[in-house]
Order: sequence, then structure tokens, then C-alpha cells
Amino acid sequence: MTIRDSYDYIIVGSGIGGLYTALLAREHGSVLLLTKGTIEDCNTRYAQGGIAAAVGDADSPELHEQDTLEAGAGLCVPETVRILAREGPTAIQELVRLGVEFDTQQGEVLLAREGAHSVPRVLHAGGDATGANIETALMKRLLESGATVKEHAMLTSIVVSDDGRATGVRAFHAQTGEESEFAGRFIVLATGGAGRLFRYTTNPEVATGDGVALAFRAGAAVNDMEFYQFHPTALHLPGAPTFLISEAVRGEGGVLRNALGEAFMARYHAMGDLAPRDVVARAIDTEMRATSSPHALLDVTHIRASRITTRFPTIYSYCLGHGLDITKQPIPVAPAAHYMIGGIKTTSWGETTVPGLYACGEVASTGAHGANRLASNSLLETMVFGKRLVERTLGRNGGEPDGDRTERVFKLPNRHVPCAQVPPLTLGNLQDLLWRNSGLVRNGDELLWAARVLSVWRTMSRARQAPMKSGQGSDRAANELVNMVLIARLMVEGALVRQESRGAHYRTDFPEPRKEWELHTVFVGEERGWHQPSCASGIPQ
Ligand code: SIN
Repeated sequence: MTIRDSYDYIIVGSGIGGLYTALLAREHGSVLLLTKGTIEDCNTRYAQGGIAAAVGDADSPELHEQDTLEAGAGLCVPETVRILAREGPTAIQELVRLGVEFDTQQGEVLLAREGAHSVPRVLHAGGDATGANIETALMKRLLESGATVKEHAMLTSIVVSDDGRATGVRAFHAQTGEESEFAGRFIVLATGGAGRLFRYTTNPEVATGDGVALAFRAGAAVNDMEFYQFHPTALHLPGAPTFLISEAVRGEGGVLRNALGEAFMARYHAMGDLAPRDVVARAIDTEMRATSSPHALLDVTHIRASRITTRFPTIYSYCLGHGLDITKQPIPVAPAAHYMIGGIKTTSWGETTVPGLYACGEVASTGAHGANRLASNSLLETMVFGKRLVERTLGRNGGEPDGDRTERVFKLPNRHVPCAQVPPLTLGNLQDLLWRNSGLVRNGDELLWAARVLSVWRTMSRARQAPMKSGQGSDRAANELVNMVLIARLMVEGALVRQESRGAHYRTDFPEPRKEWELHTVFVGEERGWHQPSCASGIPQ
């Protein structure tokens, strides 16, 4: 192992969280940014809708706060949401300063409407190319900043000193296999989400949740992993990869219809097509089952064609490239895995429970999203709490207390499956298991079966943890799979213990929210020993 240089900040990930914290940190010290692909590979690039902030005349931080709390179904940390909404307008000014050009008309910024927002509040850039515009602007700034960037650096662990402090990271080069260790005063994980755990996802291939696995193994607390948000409308077209069809399309007047052509959302929620995301996703699922159809339809054919092509150029071109003219034909859509609401538990200053280790963006769980994230709050969350994270490393905390969370703490159990055939561990089998047994609609039996299979896969996947020797090619995929099995266990065990339905977590055996579950689930460490088998329990095998 080559021990390389030492830096003030080691930042992992090249989405908005990694780039923005790296830029701010660079004003105060040396920065190493590590990313497992190229600097351009990230989830941020695919964000279509935009960034929510109370900048409109009809809006206020109080209203934004209220909408966020409402969507969060009783599990938001109220102080965190207040900071998010209050700091929103400043974060937008900051993005403008860094070179992001938001869409305007006659000098006024254009604001879109999305689900569960009571007023138009979502700023966008390049129509539906907001994430790509933000990413490009920040990347340009970062490359000019003097920060050191290392691409193809796949992390294998966080180095933790005897007194429990994160002091560095170990990584290998995904193309050469060369191993390195880097020392840092502050380690920041901004590795994004984990959509690749599911068969259908709006996320790119890099979204394998590595940061959660690394932090958990380093001893950090991980919370609310059972809350995984499914986007209601991903393109479902034979031969076309799953592709996000932004909620902003419904904000512009798009109407959801079932296979019989009926507009159905009014039957499910007073906000109709702009109901909270979890409600819309489950309504689509219900209609798909009722009509035995693999998709619902999103109809924009009644909207002026030029409006669609200018407002949604990315979606229009993508669909056209797959033979679908959305100005003339309805779009076949179905729910797909979209956003990891839970993650590494952090304070509103980005601190994890391991001193020296920080997290921001989708990999972090600040408590701002509760049980169901309000659309377009995620880019904002990253900006607001990324800034506070860097301030915290400078010793600032404004004297504000962090919001209290009621929580229940668990250790990750190990389970036996002695009387069943477990399929081999492959990425495809893992994605199928999560999609079927821990997807949009769950139940205890199916979750327990998934938990058992995952326990067995964990023992199978351990041997893969050591990176291959130089010259043997990339071992990135194998390491990602190890990480994904761990993250899947955290999601499934979280879903098993939470015996209720709330926000993005819906269980048919506990279909209502329960007062006693108005709390956060936290997992720290693994149980020793094994849970004994119970083959007679009727678990599907
Ligand atoms: C979308 O454009 O619908 C996605 C926005 C988000 O997930 O916040």
C-alpha cells in the first residue's frame, strides 16, 4: 500500500455535494477530491426538475417550510427544515455567483410547480437540464481552484484511529488496481444515492450507495434507510432504458391516465396530479394492477407543442430518439427507484457520529426530508448543508442547538436460511430481490425473506472485499456489489422493524401510520452470532 500525501480535506464524490464542498473548502486549505469514475459521472447531472427555493413574490421561507414538513409525513427534523427553507434564497444567489444561469423571462426568474408545493417554487436551467447546468458550472470552477482531483479512485475503507477519529481513506485505482492511502483532517462523503439496487431506477450506474457502506463499516450511525423514494413517472418503453420524466411535466399541465384513458389522480388526492410523490407513485401502481397494464400514461398532447419542446428539450429529444413524439402521443410511465431519503446520520452541520467524518447530499440523512422528500428539495439541501459542513470544519456553529430526533437504535442482524435455496449473488438477482420484496409496496413476509437471502449473500460477498492485484483489471464492480449487499440489508431490516406505513414506506400488513413509530430508525454496527432459523414460519422460499 502506498501512503500518499496528506490533505486538509478529502472529499469523495463529484456530484453537486462533492464539487460545492470542495470549492468552499479550497478557500481554507488543501483539497483532494476522489471519484470512482470520471469527474462527470454523477447523479446530479440527471436532475431535471430543478431546485426549490422561496424566491417568488407569492412565496416565503415559512410556506416552503410548511410544504416540506407536510410532505415529510411527521418525520422531518423541524429545525433542519427551517434552516433549509430560510437559507434557500442565499443558496440560489450562490449558484448564480458560481455561474449557473437559471431560466428567466423578461428578466424575471421562471418558477415551476411540482408535486406537493403550494406555489410555483422550482428554479430550472436549460429547461429540464438543471442538474447538468449546475454540474458543468461547478466543475469548471473546481478545475480552476487548484484542488487535486483523482478519477477512478474506488474507496475500500475509511481509516479510523484508535481513538475513533476518521483520519484518512484507502482506495484503489479502478483501472490499474494500484492501492493508495490518503490522510486528511476532514473526510467528507458526498457519494450520492443507491438507485442501482433496484431493477428499475432513474439513477445512473454510479449510484451504488458506496458512502453509506463505507461509513457504516467505519462505525457511523445510519438512519431511516427504509424510506426510499420511488419516482412516479419513469419512461416505460420497450427497448428504452428507464429514464426520468420530470414531475415538472405535470406541473405544466400533464395529466396521468390509466390504460383505459381515464384521468385517475382526482380519485386519490385533493391535489390530483400534483399530489405528494409517494401518493402518485402508489396510485399509478394501483391503476397498473387494476388494468393489468405494465404502465400508466402521462398525457401532454393537449399542451402547445412549442411549449413542450422549449420547456422539456431533454425529455422531448430522448423520447423522440426512441420513436415517441410526446407532443402527439401519451408517454408510457411507471414508478422507478429514485432517491435515498435515509443515509448516514448527520447533524445540520454535516457531522456524522464518527469524529472527523462528514457527509452531505443524498448520502447524508439530515432529517430535512422526513419520510417523503418534497420534490426538488435535494439540490437545495446539498447546497445549504454543504456550506454549513465547511463552516463547521472551521469551528463555526453559530451556537444553535441541533434538532432533537426521537429514535430507536438497532444492530444489523445476521440471519440463517438453512432450508431454502438462495439464488447466486449477481447484480441482477440483487436488483430483482429489492424491486420485488422491498419496493414501492412491501409486506413483512417478503421483507423477511429478502433479509435472509441478503444475510447469505453477505457471507458470499465478503471474500470479494480485497481489491484485485495490479494488472488484473477493474474490481470496481465487485466492490460496489459488496457495498450494495450491505446497503440492501440496512434498507430491508429498516423496513422490517418499521411496522407501519408512512411516506415512502408502505406495508400492506401495516397500512396506516402509527403514533408509536413517529421516530427514526438508526442502525449502528452488526450483531454477533446468528438469528436461529424458523422454517415452519411460512416464509416464501
Ligand atoms: C423531477 O424532475 O421530477 C425530479 C426532481 C426531484 O427528484 O426532486
